[in-house]
Formats: sequence, C-alpha cells, structure tokens
Amino acid sequence: MRIAIPKEIHPGEKRVAATPQTVLRLRKLGFEVAVQAGAGLNTDLTDSAYQEAGATIVEDVKALWSGSGVILKVRPPETGGTFGIDETELLSPNSLLISFVWPAQNRPLLEKLAARKVTALAMDCVPRITRAQKMDALSAMANIAGYRSVIEAAQHFPRFFTGQMTAAGKIDPAKVLVIGAGVAGLAAIGAARALGAIVRAFDPRAATRDQVKSMGAEYLELHVQEEAEGKGGYAKEMSDSFLKAEMALFAAQAMEVDVIITTALIPGKPAPKLITAGMVESMKPGSVIVDLAAEQGGNCAMTRPGEVVTHKGVTIVGYTDLPSRVASLSSQLYGATVAALLEEVWKDNAITIDENDPVVRGSMVTHDGKITWPPPPLPIPTPVAPPEPGVAANTTKAEPAAAHHANGASPASASTIWVWMILAALFCVGIAWIAPPSFLSHFTVFVLACFVGWQVIWNVKPALHTPLMSVTNAISGIILIGGMLQLSGPPSGSSFTAAAILGAIAVLIATINVAGGFLVTQRMLAMFRRNA
Ligand code: NAI
Repeated sequence: MRIAIPKEIHPGEKRVAATPQTVLRLRKLGFEVAVQAGAGLNTDLTDSAYQEAGATIVEDVKALWSGSGVILKVRPPETGGTFGIDETELLSPNSLLISFVWPAQNRPLLEKLAARKVTALAMDCVPRITRAQKMDALSAMANIAGYRSVIEAAQHFPRFFTGQMTAAGKIDPAKVLVIGAGVAGLAAIGAARALGAIVRAFDPRAATRDQVKSMGAEYLELHVQEEAEGKGGYAKEMSDSFLKAEMALFAAQAMEVDVIITTALIPGKPAPKLITAGMVESMKPGSVIVDLAAEQGGNCAMTRPGEVVTHKGVTIVGYTDLPSRVASLSSQLYGATVAALLEEVWKDNAITIDENDPVVRGSMVTHDGKITWPPPPLPIPTPVAPPEPGVAANTTKAEPAAAHHANGASPASASTIWVWMILAALFCVGIAWIAPPSFLSHFTVFVLACFVGWQVIWNVKPALHTPLMSVTNAISGIILIGGMLQLSGPPSGSSFTAAAILGAIAVLIATINVAGGFLVTQRMLAMFRRNA
C-alpha cells in the first residue's frame, strides 16, 4: 500500500507530515512512500533526503493523492495552493486520512469526507491516555509552542532575560509570568528559566503546583478554593468569582512583570479573557505579552490572532503558528506521532479499524460513509475493590464465583495451595531427618531468607524499586564476601570442593547484581541530570 505525503497548502504552513527519519519507519512497516516534490523545502528537508530514505518523489499532485491508500497531512484538507485545488476531492474512496481535523470547527469538512467514504483519524482527537502518549501530537506541538513563545518574547523584549553584574552596572533579570501550566505553559517556564529569568506561574489545577515548582518557578497562590480538575486531566471552566479573583492577581502582577505568556484554555471553549486593556496599559513600556490562546480568541483583550501589535509601548504577540516557526523539529515530532497512530491500525499488512480500541475510536471522525464524531465516552475502568483478608488479590468483577466463595479464594486454587504447602512441609521434615545439625541451621536461615525476601520484594511499590535496589546491592555485597571466604577454602584442602564451586557461583551472580545495580542507578540519575 502507498502512503502519500503532500506539500501543505495552508498559507505560511512550513511543517510536513513525514521526515526522512519517519519515512524509514513507514517503509519498515511495509509501505511504499510517495512524497510531493518540494514538500519539505520550507523545513530544510530536500527531495533527495526523502529519496535516500526510500521515498519516491511525485510531481503531479493529483497522481500523488489518487494513487495512495493512506494520506498523511498536517493541516485539515482545504482548498487552495497554486491551482486552487480542493484536497478533499483528491481523496480516493475508502482511503485513510490522518491529519489535524478539528471536527468541532469543521463540520462541512466532515460531511465531505464522509461523502467520499474516507476513514479520517484526527490527530487532535487522540485521547490523552497513557497508552496514547506516543501519538499525542497536540502535546508535542504545545511543547514546541511553549518554548518558541519565550524565544518570541525575547526577540521583542528590549533587554536581557538573565541578570548580570557588569562593569557598567547591574542588570536585573527579567520577570516572566506564565498563565496556565499545561504542556505549553510548563515548556515556557523551562525555556524562560533556562534564559535566566525569574518566573512565576499560575494555574487553577492543584496538580500543577508541584510541577511549576519543580521547573524552578514560583507558584502564585490564590486564596479562593475551587476544584479545577475536569475530565481527562484537563481544567474545567472556572466560576465568575474565581475568574475575578485570578484577574485581580494578574492585575497586580502586570505592574511588576516584564513578560506575560498566557496559555489558559479549556478544550472546546473560547479562551477566557484574563488580561484586560487596563492591565496592558499598566505594564512597563517595552514589556511583552505572548498570547498562545490567540487562535481561540486570546487570553488578552488586545490580542490580534496571527499578528504582533504594540499598544502604549507594550508588544502583544498573537502568532497562531508557533510550531510551524520551528518547522524541522515540529515535522519530526509530528511525523513520529502520525507513524505511531498508523501502526495502531496496521495489522497483518492491512488497515484494520478496531472500534473497540479507544485510541482508534477516539480519533476516528469519519468511517464507512458516516460521521463518527463525537466518539462515545471512554469506558471508565471498574475500580478493583481492595482485597479482603483471605481474598485472592487478582479477583476481578469477571470472576464473581470466586469472589463469593466462603474464603474468598476459589476451591481449586485453595486446595492447590494446601497441597503445595503440605509437600513443602514434608520435604523440610525429610531433610531435618537425614541432614547433619550444622546443615540444618544453614538450611533454616536459607528457607527464611527465601520466604522473607519474596514477601518483601513482592509487596514493594514500583516507585520504591530504586531504594530496594540499594538494599539488594548491600545484600549482594554480603554474599560476595561469603562466596570469597568459601573460595579461599581450607589452606591444605583441594580447591574443587562443592563449597568452593558454590562459592564461585555466588561470587559471579552477586557481582552481576552489584554491577547491574550500579549501571541502572547511573542511568536513572542521568535522566535527572542537566547537560553541562
Ligand atoms: P493544556 O490544556 O495542556 O493547558 C492549558 C492550561 O490552561 C491548563 O493547565 C489549564 O488548567 C489552564 N487554565 C484553564 N483555565 C484557566 C484559567 N482561567 N486561568 C489560568 N489557567 C487556566 O493546553 P496546552 O496543550 O498547554 O496548550 C495551551 C494553549 O496553547 C492552547 O490555547 C493551545 O491552543 C495553544 N497552542 C498555541 C499554539 C500557537 O501556535 N499559538 C500551538 C500549540 C498550542
């Protein structure tokens, strides 16, 4: 099957839905890949780079679309480009389209796609669940937009972000306020901190407090209690009294800070107006506001989507194409999320739409000639009740017979456990009968160590596995010393006794454990270390 990668026709759009790296990934899945000539030229990706990755370059747009079973795009299909083509008309019936679609705002597009019997997967509808993180194009783009918003602010700000002590005098660091600490907001905090600014942030979701602090910013407290967490980790719309209180906070901050980056949004709602014209006028001349929510109407009353305006010395940046301004990286990350979603529906060398897969169903907006958006709500996992004493831990709702048994465990599993316990007890009695007393004391310690060790490790939460590893490293150290003592053996005896061989095995295994423990710990620490 052939995948088509067209050149984006939306004015100013520089991204492309696949890069040579993601073409390699698509080829590995068994697809042919055809790229429109010049598709990546706005991002520094040449046709020859695509060819080297195994793609064919196609000049004729119509041939590219009509001869392909899968179309990967960034922007929703639209009418435009050099020849005024309607991209929807180019899609062949029963083909698969993966792109941003924004179904809530694009009903006529959905109707056209359904009429052409196209299966469309919208990258903006991929549910934000753990399994779908690698397909989360919105977060990937928001992360880039957050970073770029700081670069845009620095470009328009007439001073340094960092503070300096120079021979000519002291330069104070810039003060940055970030409103909304979602994906874009946190990325903005990171970038502004890296440039040396003092950063403050506010978000109504309580869960963001620690995230903001861990990024090195100050979390602004608002002494109004209101639950902000909505469905799927997103915020819910806040009450008028809450909005008033936070606006009072922003009004006070506006007089103090040099840069405001606003990202406040509730999905599917117009952006809340949080920065009034009066607040803009209260800012120091030279200050900058970057309004990431510009496309949804903006958080600032003076934002003009897509434009940079200056009001009484304050610059308001309302760009709606921040990821496209970092086109090469955006294309790479977007291409990777698209490839991951395609892998989800590519089974046994055919496109298979599994409507029971929440990721596929959540992102599917048209299928089989029908509009399939909005999808049914994601099933809420049935909470597994904590096991009662004596109830097998893996008892689920699907096993009611087991759950209602007098002792909690099923008759079969309970009797099997008893049989094993009796066999183990008989084995121990047999050993005690025949073994010498010195062996017996070692054997008791061994059995206790196995039992206690198993109980301890099984009950440790995954989050505590690293400290647990330090403990096992210490135990391995003791084993090493014991093994070495056995290896040295009695001065005149043969070196190949059973004890010496067991000692050598113990030394080998304990060494692997100790070295492995250090390696894993090193790798985990490296994840938190910043590159110098
Ligand atoms: P997100 O949903 O992860 O974060 C939005 C945050 O705003 C949430 O943490 C939410 O709690 C917060 N929020 C909601 N109501 C608020 C209020 N009244 N006051 C303060 N905070 C509030 O969204 P994400 O992915 O971080 O995107 C943020 C914005 O950036 C969106 O508007 C998105 O459309 C925009 N964006 C803009 C781009 C551009 O080129 N301009 C590119 C990518 C994203």
